[in-house]
Amino acid sequence: MKHLVTLQDWDRDTIRSLLDRATAIKKDPWQYRDAMQRRVLVMIFEKPSLRTRVSFEVGAVQMGGYAIYYDMSTSPLGAGKENIADTVKVLSRYADIIMARLFEHAKLEEMVCHSTIPVINGLTDFSHPCQVLGDLLTILEIKGRLKGLTLAYFGDANNNVTHSLLFACPKMGMNIRIACPAKARYMPQPAVVEEARKTAARNRASVEILHDALAAARGAEVVYTDSWMSYHIPAEEQEARVADLRPFQVNSDVMGQADRDAIFMNCLPALRGYEQTAEVMDGAQSVVFDQAENRLHIQKAIMLYLLEHASRDTSAA
Ligand code: CP
Ligand code: NVA
Repeated sequence: MKHLVTLQDWDRDTIRSLLDRATAIKKDPWQYRDAMQRRVLVMIFEKPSLRTRVSFEVGAVQMGGYAIYYDMSTSPLGAGKENIADTVKVLSRYADIIMARLFEHAKLEEMVCHSTIPVINGLTDFSHPCQVLGDLLTILEIKGRLKGLTLAYFGDANNNVTHSLLFACPKMGMNIRIACPAKARYMPQPAVVEEARKTAARNRASVEILHDALAAARGAEVVYTDSWMSYHIPAEEQEARVADLRPFQVNSDVMGQADRDAIFMNCLPALRGYEQTAEVMDGAQSVVFDQAENRLHIQKAIMLYLLEHASRDTSAA
């Protein structure tokens, strides 16, 4: 049984073939109109969402499947009346695939332990693999390659998207530079950096952590940022975080240091005037809506891949 929990678990060839498949699906979606016929996706949400919630549902429906939005706050699980194991064992008897957006990554891992159907991480506080697979598709489409490119990430790097970029970029032969404040609370988790460095060494790529935004941007082909106030960050931290993260805002000075054909990325939702200026977000180099669109295509490829590798053995949990 395969699941998508983090990109640490997925090798380069699997990622490459997913990107190829997503490209084919995007080119001719009609060809895949029955690929998920009568298959049911259950989408468990503990946090808000626009892109993940809608793109997964649209993806399932466009391929002849069906998607159920399951709000954790109105579930027995959310009410403390049922545990994760029982919830997932029940869902495994009804549905074909689960996508879950949760706060704690350990809870997603627990779901995986008890599930007899594939589980997809739709974002946890630790990682956001679907986002980064969609981002690789966007970079590949625009740049025509991944290997040898430098992606520079700015801002809060103790972050799910950053961790997924750190797992994926070195695997695909991309260099990654992180520009963040020199405080542990904004730094990527050390184990992820260590893993990224090992992978980079095997693939002739580099991983750098810097605390100077202009230096990090120099020559980068991809400039990436994410929210300073991720869903799990309490609102009362906003003022202090904005003060700490302001020097890492992506603005025209930062873009001016990057490669002249650099693209600007943000997984969205985004706040103009915070992690990037409006000028950058709405400027000619911004590909943020291509990123959002590509979530749809890559997630179709992810669901098909996982369904093909699913077993129907309900005793496995
Ligand atoms: N990028 C992303 O996952 O967006 P949502 O939070 O809207 O799903
Ligand atoms: N880091 C952000 C990503 C949103 C898609 C968050 O967790 O809120």
